Amino acid sequence: MKKILILLLTATFVISLIFMGVGCKEKVSGEVEIFSWWTAGGEAEGLQAMIDIFEEKYPDVEFINATVAGGAGFEAKPVLVSRMTGGDPPDSFQVHAGHELIDTWGVGDYLEPVNFIFEEEGWYDVYPEDMISILSMGDDILSVPVNIHRSNVLWYNKAVFEDNGIEAPTTFDEFFAAADVLEAAGITPLALGDTGIWAAVHLFENVLLGVVGSDDYIDLMDGSVRWDSDEVKEAIQTFVDLLDHVNDDHSALGWDEAAQYVIDGTAATTVMGDWAHGYFMAKGLTPGVEYGYVPSPGTAGNFMALSDTFCLPADAPNRDAAIAWLKICGSKEGQDAFNPIKGSIPSRTDADISLYDVYLKSAIDDFGVDIITPSIAHGAAVSETWSAAIGDVITLLVADKDVDAAADAFQAAADENL
Ligand code: GAL
Repeated sequence: MKKILILLLTATFVISLIFMGVGCKEKVSGEVEIFSWWTAGGEAEGLQAMIDIFEEKYPDVEFINATVAGGAGFEAKPVLVSRMTGGDPPDSFQVHAGHELIDTWGVGDYLEPVNFIFEEEGWYDVYPEDMISILSMGDDILSVPVNIHRSNVLWYNKAVFEDNGIEAPTTFDEFFAAADVLEAAGITPLALGDTGIWAAVHLFENVLLGVVGSDDYIDLMDGSVRWDSDEVKEAIQTFVDLLDHVNDDHSALGWDEAAQYVIDGTAATTVMGDWAHGYFMAKGLTPGVEYGYVPSPGTAGNFMALSDTFCLPADAPNRDAAIAWLKICGSKEGQDAFNPIKGSIPSRTDADISLYDVYLKSAIDDFGVDIITPSIAHGAAVSETWSAAIGDVITLLVADKDVDAAADAFQAAADENL
C-alpha cells in the first residue's frame, strides 16, 4: 500500500513537472519594450496592428511602445545609440536591413542571431535569398524583416493636376514645365519637409538615380563611379534646380507635414517613400482618387528599396517576449496586418495579395520586374556614417547651392568611407 502511494505521488510529481515545463515554454509574461520611430500617420497605425496581434496572443505581457518621433529615425537613432552603448537596450528595435543593420549593429556584436527563429518558423522557405542576405553577417541572420518600402515615388494631388491641365511628369523636363504652370497658379510644385535633413537626402537619391541611371547609381556605392564626375554634377545641379520649386518653410517641416501640403492642395507633389501612401490612407484618402503616384522623374523601371526590420539585442532584458514579438513581425499574419496600413509590401513570398490595395499591388508587381536599387537615406546602400556625411554635404548644398563644392565633398566622403 505504502509502495503504491509513493509510486502514485512520484507519478503525479513527474507529470506536473512535465506540464509546468510545457507551460513555461508557451507562456510569456512580464513586459516587452519595442523601440521604433513610427509615430506619424500610417506608421503608428501599422505598428498598432502588429501590437494588437501581440496583445491578443500574449495577454500576460505588458507591451511598451517605446517610440521616438522623427521621420527616418533622425531623432530616435541617437537615443538608441546611447541606450545600446550605455547598457540599456530595449528588447527589440527597428533597424533598416543592409548596411545600417550590419555596419552599425552587427559588426559591434550588439545582436543575437535569429537563425533559430527562421528555423523554428519555417521562414527559410518564405523569405527570398536576397532578403536573407541583406539581413546576414556571414551565416548569422541578425534581424527579422517586416516589409519592403519603395522610396522613388512622386505623389501628386489629382485635382490640382487636373485643374491645371497637367499630366504626371515622368522626366525632369516635364516636371519643370509643370512647375511653371503650377507656380503661375500660386501652387508650390514640390513639397519638402527636410527637418533633420534626411528628406533632402531622400530627394537627392531620387534625383541621382533619375539622372545617372541604375548602373552608375549602384557603382557609386562601391567607388567604381566617381562622385565628382560630370554626371553626378548634373544630378546635383538638377537637385539645386528643384529646390527653386519647394516650399519656403521646408526646413521646419517633417515629411508628413509636406505630405499634408499635397492633401491640402497648397503643394502639388512630394517625392517620398510609400509610407506617404500610409499617411494619405490614415487621413482617409484613397489612392487613384484624391492622389496619384508615378516613379519619381527618370526612375521608371527602377525600384529604390529599403526594408524595416526588428532585431534581438544580445542583452535584451526580456528575451522570451522579444522573440515572441519577432515571431509576429516575421509572420504572414503580422505582415498582412501591418503592410496594407503602413503602405509597404510584404517581405515574405506568400502574402495574401487580396489584402493589398491598387497602389500596393502595383508596387508588388514592380518589385518583381524592376531593377532594385538600394536607398542611401534609409540604411540600405551605405553605412550610417557615410550617409550622415552625405547629409552634411546636402545641408551645405541646400544653403549655398555650390554644385562643384558639393561634388568634391561627396567624393571626399566616399574616399573616407570606402
Ligand atoms: C523610413 C522607414 C519607414 C518610415 C519612414 C518615415 O526610414 O523605413 O518605415 O517610417 O522612415 O519615418
